[in-house]
Amino acid sequence: MKKRIAVLAGDGIGPEIMKEGLKVLDAIAKQFDHIFDYKEALVGGCAYDKYGHPLPDETKEVCNNSDAIYFGAVGGPKWENLPPELTPERGALLPLRGTYNLFANLRPAIIFGPLADAASLKSERLEGGLDILIVRELTGGIYFGRNKVKTLTLHEGAMQGNYAVDYMIYSVPEIERIAAVACDAAMKRNKKLTSVDKANVLESSKLWRKIITEYVQAHFPQIQLNHMYVDNAAMQLATNPKQFDVIVTGNMFGDILSDLASAITGSIGMLPSASLARTGFGLFEPIHGSAPDIAGLNKANPLAQILSGAMMLKYAFGLNRESKAIEEAIMKALENGYRTADLANKTTQKGKILSTSQMGDKVVEYLSNAGLETE
Ligand code: IPM
Ligand code: MG
Repeated sequence: MKKRIAVLAGDGIGPEIMKEGLKVLDAIAKQFDHIFDYKEALVGGCAYDKYGHPLPDETKEVCNNSDAIYFGAVGGPKWENLPPELTPERGALLPLRGTYNLFANLRPAIIFGPLADAASLKSERLEGGLDILIVRELTGGIYFGRNKVKTLTLHEGAMQGNYAVDYMIYSVPEIERIAAVACDAAMKRNKKLTSVDKANVLESSKLWRKIITEYVQAHFPQIQLNHMYVDNAAMQLATNPKQFDVIVTGNMFGDILSDLASAITGSIGMLPSASLARTGFGLFEPIHGSAPDIAGLNKANPLAQILSGAMMLKYAFGLNRESKAIEEAIMKALENGYRTADLANKTTQKGKILSTSQMGDKVVEYLSNAGLETE
């Protein structure tokens, strides 16, 4: 199979973890006889520095001519105070999601068995592991409502002077299409769906709840659906995460809950994501940011980036076997005690704390020696 991949490494640790992601994809290409044709392009702060825009036309062109986008991370203190439309987040990442209609964001929160000791919860709460899928709506809600800062003089109560406003808007078709994705996922898993909203306060959430309920009743009555307010969902994730199978939620709630879920699984450095359009086109990125504080130190955990590559193989190219092979290689590396610094603790053997590039090498090693015995 031949595929064109737009490689957008971005800022901070982006380039160094991307290098490991590509290393692993190269190994897969060799082993399974595929051709991955990479086209690298700048995105985020580094693109702003060179072109004066975080998502230059050159980069859009590369994305337009690709079968999938493999993305690292963007942002950093250097670009924080630019006008909003030029920041890496609002000038590049959100427009990429919007332009390609990547409305369905899949964020699996899985505990890799050997990492149970790195998880932040008491191990009895995680007995038997954890496997949650967060389906986050990604191109609507408060991230994409019109944002305006207005100057207006109001004279009532606390509402005086300048104000800023963000609109949280959800339409019926937007809710229905994310419901469809979540139901599909639930059908392939344990047929349990939790919809998270704030319907006790927000109109957009009341509509969300109504439409999700109707959609499930009409199309997937076999799915066990429950609803949860977002504050309670945060508490439930922290105290009893094993009750969840698939969670479906809006853009901002999904952003917050997926960071929480990552902390539960051990490290934010472990969680990949797929952002998909209805056509199957997608962008694949770790859920963590650009971590400028450790950029260039060769100590970032590349596994979320590598796992995002595995998601790309599975969701964009239908290469399930190849995707599984990557997950298994990672599992072997972890089973054998290898850790990056973020995953290490006092039980980690000396000499098994790996740098970014060493972890990439280790995954490749277990990939090419699929039968390699446990050490
Ligand atoms: C994420 C990130 C982004 C988001 C930021 C970088 C804009 O936190 O992908 O979760 O809020 O969506
Ligand atoms: Mg986030």
